[in-house]
Amino acid sequence: MANLVLYRKYRPKTFGQMVNQEHVVKTLINALKLDKVAHAYLFTGTRGTGKTTIARLLAKAVNCLETKSSEPCNKCQACQDINEGKSMDLIEIDAASNRGIDEIRELRDGIKFSPSSLKYKVFIIDEVHQLSGPAFNALLKTLEEPPAHAIFILATTEIHKVPQTIISRCQKFDFHKLTTEKIVEHLKLISKYEKVEVEQPALELIAINADGSVRDGLSLLGQIMSMEDKNITLEEVKTILGVTDIKAVQDLVGFITEKKSGEAIKHINQIANQGYDLIQFSKSLIGYLRKMMILKVDSSLAKLVTAELTKEQVQGIIQQGEKFQSSDLIKVIYLFIQAGNEIKSSDFPQLPLELAIVECCQGS
Ligand SMILES: Nc1ncnc2c1ncn2[C@@H]1O[C@H](COP(=O)(O)OP(=O)(O)OP(=O)(O)O)[C@@H](O)[C@H]1O
Ligand SMILES: [Mg+2]
Ligand SMILES: [Zn+2]
Repeated sequence: MANLVLYRKYRPKTFGQMVNQEHVVKTLINALKLDKVAHAYLFTGTRGTGKTTIARLLAKAVNCLETKSSEPCNKCQACQDINEGKSMDLIEIDAASNRGIDEIRELRDGIKFSPSSLKYKVFIIDEVHQLSGPAFNALLKTLEEPPAHAIFILATTEIHKVPQTIISRCQKFDFHKLTTEKIVEHLKLISKYEKVEVEQPALELIAINADGSVRDGLSLLGQIMSMEDKNITLEEVKTILGVTDIKAVQDLVGFITEKKSGEAIKHINQIANQGYDLIQFSKSLIGYLRKMMILKVDSSLAKLVTAELTKEQVQGIIQQGEKFQSSDLIKVIYLFIQAGNEIKSSDFPQLPLELAIVECCQGS
């Protein structure tokens, strides 16, 4: 199974293996213990944070033949069939490819029948926001009177596209983005299982780029491991990601606060010469300035923007932010948004950024 993608290979098989999402795990374990599992759940939140994983865990847990613990045993026939994707009673519908009403109608007609071998029929509808209007209506009818043997788990990254009538019939859980620290920890564990040494700053850069998603972190790690190198360094990760790390952004902002336009322009050109993508760089820069602005406006909003940063990085942003007047910071952000938009159509990709730098460093 060596070539199995990392994130599939390491999909948690028990609730205990989940990283974060404690609020979800706790509530579900409790419901399992009290035999009070709901008939409809709605899992929302960022991609790659465990929605499908927990949906499958719940499907196993309610059907597991070993009843001593609320965790699925992964050994009984029910658990094994589900793990191998063989159970007729776990029905996974990807709404992104099945937008039509037919699938939901079929579901509605089929749901009357008792499970073929398991205790519960579990329907997982992924990307549920993609269902068409009529399909939502058909689903709603089903959710209004679900038979005792049915459990629905709807999952979506875009809750705002799910009708309120559906939402209100489900027990809803928000899956949170994972912090950089948590992702680093998890990646470290998995590289250990894979017997690959990855230096700490390299793990941190992967985790920052994963932006809260465990799956994205594991895909990046897998991509890097496929080079068959047993000692992975920060430099290698940077080259593979083709993105600039926060340090490059921070240095540029530093030059701007000191109004050193020459240094700043030199810096941009160095970045470009090293083969970094300037569009990606300007995105990172704008993201960084946004965080700075928000922290400056109200430091209690820190949670909103710093989940994926290390403590030192947050401190760095706050300190740099103190060197800007609020009005200047706003001006700088607008200038770089404009520059970012113009890079693609410019004969010299660095020119829009250079112009923005000169303008930022002028005047008061
Ligand atoms: N909280 C977590 N703890 C441990 N591993 C996780 C977690 N979240 C995601 N993963 C890893 O990422 C993979 C994908 O997770 P999953 O399919 O559950 O994400 P999702 O939230 O359903 O994403 P999407 O919105 O894209 O469908 C899992 O197989 C697992 O390896
Ligand atoms: Mg999913
Ligand atoms: Zn079992």
